[in-house]
Amino acid sequence: MNFTFKTLDDVDFVGKRVLIRVDMNCSVDPETKQITDTSRIEAIQQTLQELQNSKVVLMAHQGRPGSDDFISLEQHTKALRDLGFNASFIDDIFGEKAKEAISKVKDGEILVLQNVRYFDGELRKAPASEVAQEALVQELFPLFDLFVNDAFGAAHRSQASLVGFTTVLPSVAGRLVEKEIRTLTSATATDQHPWTLVLGGSKVEDKVKILDKLLATDRVDNAVLGGLVGTLFLIAAKDIPESYSKPIKGFESAVGTAKEILQNYSDVVILPQDAAVERNNARLECEFSEMNNSPFLDIGPKTAEKYVSIIRDSAVVFANGPMGYFEKEAFAEGTSRVLSAIADCEGITVVGGGHMGAMAMKMSLENRITHISTGGGATINFLTGKKLDLVVALEASAKRMDG
Ligand code: 3PG
Repeated sequence: MNFTFKTLDDVDFVGKRVLIRVDMNCSVDPETKQITDTSRIEAIQQTLQELQNSKVVLMAHQGRPGSDDFISLEQHTKALRDLGFNASFIDDIFGEKAKEAISKVKDGEILVLQNVRYFDGELRKAPASEVAQEALVQELFPLFDLFVNDAFGAAHRSQASLVGFTTVLPSVAGRLVEKEIRTLTSATATDQHPWTLVLGGSKVEDKVKILDKLLATDRVDNAVLGGLVGTLFLIAAKDIPESYSKPIKGFESAVGTAKEILQNYSDVVILPQDAAVERNNARLECEFSEMNNSPFLDIGPKTAEKYVSIIRDSAVVFANGPMGYFEKEAFAEGTSRVLSAIADCEGITVVGGGHMGAMAMKMSLENRITHISTGGGATINFLTGKKLDLVVALEASAKRMDG
C-alpha cells in the first residue's frame, strides 16, 4: 500500500535523537491501580526494535485527569524492560529534569517521559499549528532530529504531543500506524452486508457524536449497544429513568444527540432488552422494572441472545467497548458472549479498543477474529471516512520535508 505520509522507510534514523509518541494506554485495575493488560505495549515493539540504534525518547498518555486509570508511566516502563528493551523512566515531561535525562540518552536506550496528560496543555484540542505553540512542543522539539508517531489508538486526537511536533520536526509514522491503516483499509473495502457495529463501554460523549457521524454514512445495518453507551440510550428511549445517568460523564450534552439518533435511525439502533445488576454482592439478571435503582452493569440474557444472533449472521462486524462492567468477572458475561459470537462469525470482524481487544486476547480469540485493533475511538473515526488527525498532520509534514 502506498501511504500519503512518510514512514520509517523514508528517513535515516540510525544514531539520531528520536522522539516517539505511542499509545500504551492500558486497562488498569480500579482498586490496585495495576496495569491488567500490556497488549498495547506489545504492539509497539516492532517500531522500537527498528529504532534500536537510535537515542529514543518515548511519550505517551495513560487515562484522563479524574479517571481511575490516570496513573504514572512507571509500570509501562517496567513492561518495556520485561519485553527486553533498555528502558528507563523519568518523572518529568519537559522540565529541567527531563531535558537533562534526554541529553544523556545513548543509542539503544529508551527514556520514557511521565504521562503527557499530567501537563494541562496536552488536553487542548486544536489544529496542529496551534497546539505546536504549547510549552511541551516548544521546550522539547529542539532536542530531537526526528518525530515518529506510532500512537494509532489516539490518531483521532489533535493534541500537542500527537500533532504539534509534526509542524517543527521531520515526522513519520511508526510501524503500528502503518499496519493499522493498511489492515483497516482492506477490512473496510468490502461492500458486503449486513454490517454490524457493536458499541459499548464509557467515553459516552465521544461515542455518541461519532455514532451519529457513522450512521449518516449509511454503512451500518445494525448498531447494537451496551455498557454506559447502552445505558444512555435506554434513558433517551425512556426505557429506564434519568436517575440511572449518574455514572455517565457528559450525560447532559450526550442525551440530546442520543434522542436524535433514536428518532432518525430507529431501524438500525438496537438497545438492550434486559439487564444484569448487583444484588447482595452477586449478579442478578432482571427486567428493567426490577433494577430498583441499581446501576446497569451488563446486558441480560435476552439481550445477549439477540446480539449473538445478529453478530453471527453479519457479513462485517466492528466492535468497540464492552457490554458491561467487565472488570468484575460477574459482569463480563455479556462482553464475553458477544466476543465469542464475533469469533464464530464467518464475515470480516474487527475488535477495537484497549478493553475489548484485551478481553479477546484473554479469551484466546485472536486467531478467529480478522483484526484486533489497538484503536477504539480511532477505529470508529476511521470508519466514518474522515481522515484521522494524525494522518492529516503527517501528510502536511511530508509535504514540508519534500520542500
Ligand atoms: C483510547 O484508549 O481510546 C486511546 O488511548 C485514546 O484515549 P482518549 O480517548 O482518552 O483520548
